[in-house]
Amino acid sequence: MKLFVEKDYDAMSKLAANMVKDEIEKNPSTILGLATGSTPEGMYKELIRLYKEEGLDFSKITTFNLDEYVGIDEEHPNSYHYFMKNQLFDHVNIDMKNTFVPDGKAENPEEFCKQYDKLIEEKGGIDLQILGIGANGHIAFNEPDEELNVGTSIVNLTESTIEANSRFFDSIDEVPKTAMSMGIGSIMKAKKIILMANGKNKAEAIKELLKADKITTKLPASLLLLHHDVTVIVDEEAYNG
Ligand code: F6R
Repeated sequence: MKLFVEKDYDAMSKLAANMVKDEIEKNPSTILGLATGSTPEGMYKELIRLYKEEGLDFSKITTFNLDEYVGIDEEHPNSYHYFMKNQLFDHVNIDMKNTFVPDGKAENPEEFCKQYDKLIEEKGGIDLQILGIGANGHIAFNEPDEELNVGTSIVNLTESTIEANSRFFDSIDEVPKTAMSMGIGSIMKAKKIILMANGKNKAEAIKELLKADKITTKLPASLLLLHHDVTVIVDEEAYNG
């Protein structure tokens, strides 16, 4: 695991954006795995700037998002579809046909999950996966548990995740209790992974991850210790607490 400790959120975001840029410049048809949430917002902002000011070309890339709430319309302002359009897709020259986000309203969710993993494989697999981390160590919505899903699945969100995500909703009751999420196996198949974390509330999870010499499903991010190309980018607050 490579580690970069950056001064602040801005520096963390710029470093991650530059790594994405390098990847796209090396391979214009890169397949990116994308995350939502507060952590990558700054990185997306910087990617938009790189597109507008430096001509970074998104026209041939393909993207697969990690997750989506179940039961929420694509147009709902808290859906991850909406987030991606708002934070990135509407502002760069990406071909929307090449963007994929799990469908939280799929008629047959189990079948959809299977097809999602299949589609990733058919496209050639994810070249670079961007991850955030939950304060409880979750990656995507793989929550600490006795067992973790290998492939994309329907998952129950933990109370702590529902509470953390309620900041985006009018009330905690509106936060969906289930999500569709890539599994640990879907994530581990990515050729390269960048995990980002900022702020004091991630310090405990980051400390656990960086000191881990054992993998445990109780800290889903620890499974990343088995991957050969993971870069962790944190700001000083997430590193020092
Ligand atoms: C989002 C995702 C989640 C978040 C995590 C951190 O697509 O998969 O695992 O990365 O919950 O969320 P933020 O960045 O809002 O602290």
